[in-house]
Amino acid sequence: MRAYELGNRQGGAITLRPVERADLVPGHGQVVMKVHATGLGARDISIMRTPYPPAEVKPWQNPPPPERIPLQDSAGEIMAIGPGVSRVRMGDRVIASHYPEFIDGAWDFDTMALTDFGDCFDGFLAEQALVPADSLVRIPDYLSYEQASTLQSSGLTPWRGLTVEANTRVGETVLTLGSGNVSVFGIQIAKMLGARVIATSSDDDKCRQLLALGADTVINYRRTPDWDREVLACTNGKGADVVLNNIGMPTLEKCLLACASNARVMHIGARPVVGASTTPVTISSLPNLISKSVMIKGFSVGSRRMFEDFLRAIELHRLQPCIDRVFSFDDALEAIRYYETGAKVGKIVIKII
Ligand SMILES: NC(=O)c1ccc[n+]([C@@H]2O[C@H](COP(=O)([O-])OP(=O)(O)OC[C@H]3O[C@@H](n4cnc5c(N)ncnc54)[C@H](OP(=O)(O)O)[C@@H]3O)[C@@H](O)[C@H]2O)c1
Repeated sequence: MRAYELGNRQGGAITLRPVERADLVPGHGQVVMKVHATGLGARDISIMRTPYPPAEVKPWQNPPPPERIPLQDSAGEIMAIGPGVSRVRMGDRVIASHYPEFIDGAWDFDTMALTDFGDCFDGFLAEQALVPADSLVRIPDYLSYEQASTLQSSGLTPWRGLTVEANTRVGETVLTLGSGNVSVFGIQIAKMLGARVIATSSDDDKCRQLLALGADTVINYRRTPDWDREVLACTNGKGADVVLNNIGMPTLEKCLLACASNARVMHIGARPVVGASTTPVTISSLPNLISKSVMIKGFSVGSRRMFEDFLRAIELHRLQPCIDRVFSFDDALEAIRYYETGAKVGKIVIKII
């Protein structure tokens, strides 16, 4: 089978290398997925740029070795089934959950964190992938493989934030930042839940695209650096009830300033994103945290059970994932270059087969 490996990433360069590997054979509890499509996210770009060997060894942030196949997104069909597997069949159209051990219930860092694809295990920039059968969810019939490949992290993360963690209620105001993967799904899901959405972007044309995707108000954060005040102004001084902070530390303070009483801030942004400041951020106080009784919640993607709920909901609403461009497997490096220009809105997909 054909695949790409990470390579050494000296100096933070992307050093993907095409390789030929033997066809995969599933072990106990595993299947082989024929990968039809994968996609790019900020996490993948960060992994592809983190040099190996690492400058310092941190047990849970040790970058993956040069032979690792990158990318966490997947959509494919089952082409081989190992012993002990009964919950899926040959030919099923499936997606692998981000953390194969996180099936349901509470998250446990010690047993679940070191199991993710494209990092701890080989990912999906390959024609085949070995996947634990328990991690698989079925692709809704109305979605193509390309569309389905956008869902597992970029879609599930805002779904979990808006439903499981923030319990967003009809009529509440949701604030989401930028026109990236997580943000665009955040807009679409928040509208599905009956919320009012305020979004931001650095570019007027992208602002128009976010309005077309369902946002009620979009603020150009480059032209309006005090966008937190603008959020207050367009909510009659009240602020946002739920915030998807998918940029992270650089925007945390302003997110808190834009909050309503009893707001819930979903602290999603972890890795650097294109266009965001890389200057280390020091926050001397967390505004509104106590005075407005605001909750900040951090979490990583979601369980298989949450993923299944998300897929049922989008099937019912016929949610259409926002794909900016589809690249071929041979053009994977071109896809990454385009991603890093910051021109995209929503997802970049790589079609494998
Ligand atoms: N916790 C989790 O489970 C989880 C899951 C998925 C992703 N993440 C994290 O979430 C973050 C976003 O990931 P992604 O894949 O959605 O990224 P992405 O698609 O690469 O997002 C890029 C976009 O971020 C926007 N942006 C940059 N700086 C901004 C700022 N100061 N204010 C507002 N928007 C800004 C830009 O939008 P404009 O071009 O419109 O300005 C840019 O196009 C990353 O840190 C990633 O690691 C976490």
